[in-house]
Amino acid sequence: MTQDQLKALVGQAALQEVQPGTIIGVGTGSTVNHFIDALATMPRRVAGAVSSSAATTARLRAHGIAVLEAGEVEQLAVYIDGADEIDGRGCMIKGGGAALTREKIVANLALRFVCIADVSKRVDVLGRFPLPVEVIAMAAAQVARRFEAIGGRAVLRDGVLTDNGHPLLDVHGLTIADPLALEMEINQWPGMVSVGLFARHRAQSCLLGTLGGVIRQDF
Ligand code: A5P
Repeated sequence: MTQDQLKALVGQAALQEVQPGTIIGVGTGSTVNHFIDALATMPRRVAGAVSSSAATTARLRAHGIAVLEAGEVEQLAVYIDGADEIDGRGCMIKGGGAALTREKIVANLALRFVCIADVSKRVDVLGRFPLPVEVIAMAAAQVARRFEAIGGRAVLRDGVLTDNGHPLLDVHGLTIADPLALEMEINQWPGMVSVGLFARHRAQSCLLGTLGGVIRQDF
């Protein structure tokens, strides 16, 4: 099976996390795209979705699924999204698709975060995947220096602005032993919009696509 087939497998499996008639949170990325396509095949559909990016909004609408603004909803039963890395406690690196800030905002509305990922995303320690960070442009250089001071090498993602109009740094070379502590520290730095560390908003469950099928892990 290819990596994309594993993504399709977990995208389909994630339907079991969705109650028909409810409003759900939907993440961003190629794994989530498979989930959205599967969602459109449910005989009794969801009432709508809060989306984490322009790309996800477009795909949901193309399938005739109603998209609500985050401000219209107080709570979501579930948020379903992929990850760039996930560890054994459900902490994640996200933002490879540049949607980290809105992903965190929608995840924050949800009672449960269900991560869907192929097995290549499962790691013991976060950090091999460069950590995405959305910053206010005028703070990019000083944020990069802060990362240097803790052993990271921040690289501006060339030619990319987020849906919020901000640049992204990708931080290489970190070994993230304590994701929650690092997330809380980085969040204090002036000019930060958000960091793609999801420890405070870690996953409660993960559906992992493997050659032997989908493995469910609850954290
Ligand atoms: C989007 O910004 C990311 O957080 C994605 O969830 C992550 O990059 C996973 O993407 P794929 O499902 O495309 O691997």
